[in-house]
Amino acid sequence: MHIVHTIAELRSHLEQFKRAAFVPTMGNLHEGHLTLIGQARPLGDVTVASIFVNRLQFLPHEDFDTYPRTWDSDCEKLQAAGCDLLFAPNEKELYPEPQTFKMHPPAELADILEGYFRPGFFVGVCTVVMKLFACVQPRVAVFGKKDYQQLMVIRRMVQQFALPIEIVGGETTRAPDGLALSSRNGYLSEGERTEAVQLSLALKAMATALKAGTHDIGALEDQAMRTLTARGWHPDYMVARRRSDLQAPQPGDALVVLGAAKLGATRLIDNLEV
Ligand code: PAJ
Repeated sequence: MHIVHTIAELRSHLEQFKRAAFVPTMGNLHEGHLTLIGQARPLGDVTVASIFVNRLQFLPHEDFDTYPRTWDSDCEKLQAAGCDLLFAPNEKELYPEPQTFKMHPPAELADILEGYFRPGFFVGVCTVVMKLFACVQPRVAVFGKKDYQQLMVIRRMVQQFALPIEIVGGETTRAPDGLALSSRNGYLSEGERTEAVQLSLALKAMATALKAGTHDIGALEDQAMRTLTARGWHPDYMVARRRSDLQAPQPGDALVVLGAAKLGATRLIDNLEV
């Protein structure tokens, strides 16, 4: 695997290829990220990953400074997963001057759910992804469904700006007990790690009830919030939405259930297509 830290090196290395398949990450890689790399590989003639912990998508009180940085093991894992090229710019390289031009996604997509509880989050995500796309100029990029709303926002951005990039969604990789893999799982104590699966179980219960024909979505959402709260969680939202735009569903819509909740100091998110 070739490793580059500058946009110039990246561009010169990519000159010989026609169809880069790209997986952007913030590092601290786990099997979920590596599965996306595996998915990207047959889609292009060169597989490119990026590692960049993007300050713009963290709120001041969030974990930017403590976000796990595990460079050596990330490189080993990417190499083993068959990644060809790793782009790992530092902040000076990607943001040599304050990034005052920003990408503002529409409120109805980006100020709900994650964007409501993390104001500005999707501005930060879209801005860095746009910039990474400009650097890598991929023909295809793979994003995880684990971050369902992020995938949707990126898809819409690419569509509205007619970017010549195919966006592919990768299924969520889970631990054997069902917990969605996440870099933030590393923050959990042993006891919290055992409890953490309850978020996916609560979403599963919602999905099961919806499949069985439950119509009172509000009651279902309240029940999920109460279940987690009773177990000591602090849920932000537990909702059933339509897949197409994450708005309140109409009868017949294809659904997804999404949840975000804090367990101790750690905020976890998950979702399930119904
Ligand atoms: P990060 O959290 O590192 O995730 C990188 C990619 O891996 C995202 O597309 C995410 O959805 C996917 N991913 C994470 N956990 C996963 C799992 N358990 N199964 C499948 N895919 C999983 O998401 C980001 O970084 C950033 O916001 C980024 C897009 C890189 C912009 O900074």
